[in-house]
Amino acid sequence: MLSSLREMSDKMLVPDSTLERKRTRNLVNIRKYNIDDEYKNIGKGKSYFVKTYGCQMNVHDSENIKAILEEMGFNEASDMEKADLILLNTCAIRENAHNKVFGMLGRIKHMKASRPDIKVGICGCMAQEEGVVSEILSHYRWLDLVFGTHNIDRLPAVLYKALNNKKLEVEVYSCEGDLIEDMPVKRDSKYKAWVNIMYGCDKFCTYCIVPFTRGKQRSRRPHDILSEVKKLKEDGYQEVTLLGQNVNAYGKDLGNYDMSNLLEDVAKIGIPRVRFVTSHPWDFTDEMVDIIAKYDNIMPYIHLPLQSGSDRVLKLMGRRYTKESYLKLFDRIKNTVPNVSITTDIIVGFPGETLEDFEDTLDVVRHCEYDSAFTFIFSPREGTPAAKMKDEISLKEKEDRLHRLNDLINKYSNKSNQKYLNKVVPVLLEEVSLKNDDMVMGYTETMKLVNVKASKDLIGKIVNVKITDVKTWSMDGAICE
Ligand code: SAH
Ligand code: SF4
Ligand code: F3S
Repeated sequence: MLSSLREMSDKMLVPDSTLERKRTRNLVNIRKYNIDDEYKNIGKGKSYFVKTYGCQMNVHDSENIKAILEEMGFNEASDMEKADLILLNTCAIRENAHNKVFGMLGRIKHMKASRPDIKVGICGCMAQEEGVVSEILSHYRWLDLVFGTHNIDRLPAVLYKALNNKKLEVEVYSCEGDLIEDMPVKRDSKYKAWVNIMYGCDKFCTYCIVPFTRGKQRSRRPHDILSEVKKLKEDGYQEVTLLGQNVNAYGKDLGNYDMSNLLEDVAKIGIPRVRFVTSHPWDFTDEMVDIIAKYDNIMPYIHLPLQSGSDRVLKLMGRRYTKESYLKLFDRIKNTVPNVSITTDIIVGFPGETLEDFEDTLDVVRHCEYDSAFTFIFSPREGTPAAKMKDEISLKEKEDRLHRLNDLINKYSNKSNQKYLNKVVPVLLEEVSLKNDDMVMGYTETMKLVNVKASKDLIGKIVNVKITDVKTWSMDGAICE
């Protein structure tokens, strides 16, 4: 496919999965963001709409993308139909993420028929996939721009070229570029902020596309992260979430400063709530558990993806832990961090997963009684080792397993929520509830969604709430005077 992709791309910069798989020891260059003056008025009088798919990493990237577009003079449109520029920030993690984006492109093509002047771009993880870019070059030439996860800062230049040349502009780096500090950011919330602490992933779990789409692990320097958090505190933010594909591996590429050091230094800044996602069980050290327990402002909430409870499947997945070592870590966290809530991710129907393997997963769920879980049917991703493994389980069987798993997960979510009934807990109020105009929604320290009967004036504050009703996925409560 590669050679034909190269031919079609006539000198465009397209992704190459062989290069994406490579890991070098090269030190990453750190550079400050900069936008040329000539790009600053391109968007004057025009509007943009960014549609985001995928994980928090993408959500935060979109916050950067929006700010860059505003530096170029664009304004944010209230909906996609009104925008002059539409960007889809995509996710490649499972087949259905792909389908959603291609479905949306069908809709946009239709819009473009009646408004031919609108410009449309693709970015994010799908843009890093060889197969996707090849598909775009053969069937979606009407698109205007494609850029990847490593060159978001190049958006002004790429967009400028697309507008001037009036043809599809593709610029995707196959290897991670510089680590860029001081990117502009238009945060979605005034109270909660995402803070990247690292980029990329070197774990190469056999089913996962992320090490290809996000490149080598690169940790930001502690000083840069701490300055960002200090500034957020000064600006009145109540909560920061430290972001990375496996945050516990933070600092492994730096030397003698690791995630437990960073967590402690961030906690000491004194922002009321500190969170972090996602934790790979492999790198979760005892020091980290102790630091989480020691600081009241590190939230007692940990997302600890299990993926499978079977040692055989875990080995095939390349997860590098066993059922026993996972449970040991789980118990240590539960026994050390008071009232901690633990959530997880589980994949069913991994190639060759037997009923016995699946029972092992249920067994772990029964032991852990997770507060909640994201559960998925295995989706083969082109270029990953698991996509080539023999997969003989029928879709019907996979769906049955998913249902059985979800029933069990829901039972424990409900059980863990029941413990909150009539208790008083602090909730950070965020916005008017989606369901009811008289209610305000927010989250407990343990990441439970609560709809509170409260005045909108309290939005952005942490208040004590008495839980009055408990459901499987949310709770209701009232302000405690
Ligand atoms: N870095 C995180 C995971 C990020 S992806 C970690 O290691 O835990 C989020 C979740 O998507 C994963 O935890 C996994 O459960 C799921 N996932 C990833 N690749 C998948 C695939 N090919 N098929 C189905 N689910 C997948
Ligand atoms: Fe994917 Fe594994 Fe990296 Fe998580 S740790 S992003 S599942 S390769
Ligand atoms: Fe999806 Fe990329 Fe995140 S593949 S889950 S958006 S890192």
